[in-house]
Amino acid sequence: MRKITIAFDGYSSCGKSTMAKELASSVGYTFVDTGAMYRAVTLMALRGGLFNNEGNLNEEGLRTMLSTATITQKYNPQLGQAETFLNGENVEGQIRNMDVSDRVSIIAALPFVRTEMVRQQQDMGRHGGIVMDGRDIGTTVFPNAEMKIFVTAKPEVRAQRRYLELKAKGEDVTIDEVLRNLEERDYIDSHREVSPLRQADDAVVLDNTNLTRAEQSAMLLALYNERIKD
Ligand code: DC
Repeated sequence: MRKITIAFDGYSSCGKSTMAKELASSVGYTFVDTGAMYRAVTLMALRGGLFNNEGNLNEEGLRTMLSTATITQKYNPQLGQAETFLNGENVEGQIRNMDVSDRVSIIAALPFVRTEMVRQQQDMGRHGGIVMDGRDIGTTVFPNAEMKIFVTAKPEVRAQRRYLELKAKGEDVTIDEVLRNLEERDYIDSHREVSPLRQADDAVVLDNTNLTRAEQSAMLLALYNERIKD
């Protein structure tokens, strides 16, 4: 059976990764979370002291660090999912905290960072059989993807879901902080010059504000079965 390319794009905390991961595992494809790659670059910048007290970034310092950095995703069979590695270290536990979330959109707007991440993502998906989630997958990384989904949901619903996730991990956050972070990221991601977040013309929109996971999965699987026939 032919292996297609599946692109998930959309706003922050819509559950893109969860549904992309689930679809990948039910059809036996590789799943790549591209947001995790931008998050790993952000963690590297934070650890390297590249942000000053005013929050400004030393771009040249980041360019130098990025030139020798390796960012990979490896499947962990015990967890049944891929984990992100920065220079060989598993950073999965550190890339989703608020420090990283607060700065990741600044890093993801830098053209030299995007060029390098997109190159790596295109390389990972060159044989098809991949489900990739991000903001520019259907528009820039794989404009010819056979199946494109654009995910959205009401900001309040997304913030509530993210808040519960962060609380479960023991993070000390308020729902207002989470909502503000989501709205700020969505604004920066949609207004940057290079590959802004936007719906590809041929993407199917999935608003999951009022959908259960089972309903979403059924819709996605039905679409996949249609697309592999074409
Ligand atoms: O999916 P996420 O929330 O983990 O992504 C983190 C940030 O990375 C998000 O604010 C936008 C950016 N991003 C991007 O610009 N392009 C991608 N393909 C994936 C994520």
